[in-house]
Amino acid sequence: MDDGSLSVVVLAAGRGERMRSDRPKVMHEVAGQPMIRHVLAAAEALGPARVTLVVGPGMEGVAALAAPHPHVVQTERRGTAHAVLQARARHEGTAGDVLVLCGDTPSVTPAALARTVARRRESDGAALVVLAFRADHPGPYGRLRLDGGGAPVEIVEAADAGPDSAGSGLCNSGIMAVDGAILWTLLERVGNDNAKGEYYLTDLVALARAAGHRCAVVQAPAEELAGVNTRAELAAAEAFAQRRLRARAMAAGATLVDPDSVHLAADTTLGRDVTVEPNVFFGPDVEVGDGATIRAFSHLAGVRVGRGATVGPFARVRPGSDVGEDARVGNFVEVKASEIGADARVGHLSYVGDARLGPGVNVGAGTITCNYDGFAKHRTEIGAGAFIGSNTALVAPVSIGAGAVVGAGSTIGEDVADDALTVTRAARRTVDGGGARYRRSRRRGESD
Ligand code: UD1
Ligand code: CA
Repeated sequence: MDDGSLSVVVLAAGRGERMRSDRPKVMHEVAGQPMIRHVLAAAEALGPARVTLVVGPGMEGVAALAAPHPHVVQTERRGTAHAVLQARARHEGTAGDVLVLCGDTPSVTPAALARTVARRRESDGAALVVLAFRADHPGPYGRLRLDGGGAPVEIVEAADAGPDSAGSGLCNSGIMAVDGAILWTLLERVGNDNAKGEYYLTDLVALARAAGHRCAVVQAPAEELAGVNTRAELAAAEAFAQRRLRARAMAAGATLVDPDSVHLAADTTLGRDVTVEPNVFFGPDVEVGDGATIRAFSHLAGVRVGRGATVGPFARVRPGSDVGEDARVGNFVEVKASEIGADARVGHLSYVGDARLGPGVNVGAGTITCNYDGFAKHRTEIGAGAFIGSNTALVAPVSIGAGAVVGAGSTIGEDVADDALTVTRAARRTVDGGGARYRRSRRRGESD
């Protein structure tokens, strides 16, 4: 009996030959996240009772991305219907609908999936609902053939479609919702007498009709349902994701000076009145607080940027970093796994790695935290209000006390006490007139 619950089966066993890749296709990323995560997130938004991922042999990496959802292994790639059948043991006998998704359709929205499932549950009793889109050129997609009432009669795969197959202009997204009470028996009837010799899930439409069930179609925009089989299609999905993410960021109150040149990740969050200058790249896991400015040509990943802070231009802020409120990370500065305290300044040409800078610290141009000794990484601590002169090497592990002043050009390998002033420089030697003598000697071509 249908209890209104929803099961989801996500197909991801294909190797993705057309990607020409050593990685399974669904692990390729869109907006900084593997494609399969986008598909699972859209499914999860519907609150399904159970989700099963179908993977191929040796695809543990894909299975891990689906966690905590369980996976089943399709040992031989024998087609999409065969793939769904691998999940039978987990789903047969459970009530409700089964929504079948493809792992290579990363732009699908929860709204389109919800409409597909809702259509299945309407009172007219369509046992199967195909999610489809309109295209002038169906290309590699399965084509829907409709009856006079607009209901699908069959889906003809591209490889099996004759050159004269006009079709309805509707293409199969690969996504369908099926009444769980009939799905498994219908799947058993799917044969493989076709151009590819595969068991096609798409045959379910004609089989459902033949068994006296009604089928229906729900449409969504082509861009949301585009499949990714090639690198070019991956790039198209990325471009679409970027357009959506930029629109979302701007709607939430961020200024993107040149939106087309800002690359966002699916989980990038930009606060109110954030300004992002042109040519900025956000990798995964970046949160930018209200009023912060990310200046041109900066690259951020795994970073929290506090309210009112400024990053860039030309800054690289790497995972595990936290830029405090009103802090400034400036030109040609690289920060890795470091905490930059509120109001701290690292203005120019520096490397700050595995460090903690207290509030109000000022780090002069060209300062380097020497965090790696060739074997292990070590930490640098700089207390509140300390001043680090330009071109200083801080040889970690090392700690600079609060309020301490380090003279420019120092190499600091031992801790500095609070409020101390320290400088390490080789003694200076000056020879009066030595410069002129040196030049004369070089011109004569002999030593003086
Ligand atoms: C499929 C549809 C096509 C639709 C298109 C939409 C079939 C027969 N064709 O074609 O009508 O227009 O998607 O993008 O369903 N997979 C398995 N095991 C298999 C075969 C495939 O898990 O044995 C998985 C793949 O990993 C992929 C999905 O099923 O995630 C679709 O397979 P793919 O080979 O990409 O099918 P298409 O040719 O794109
Ligand atoms: Ca595909």
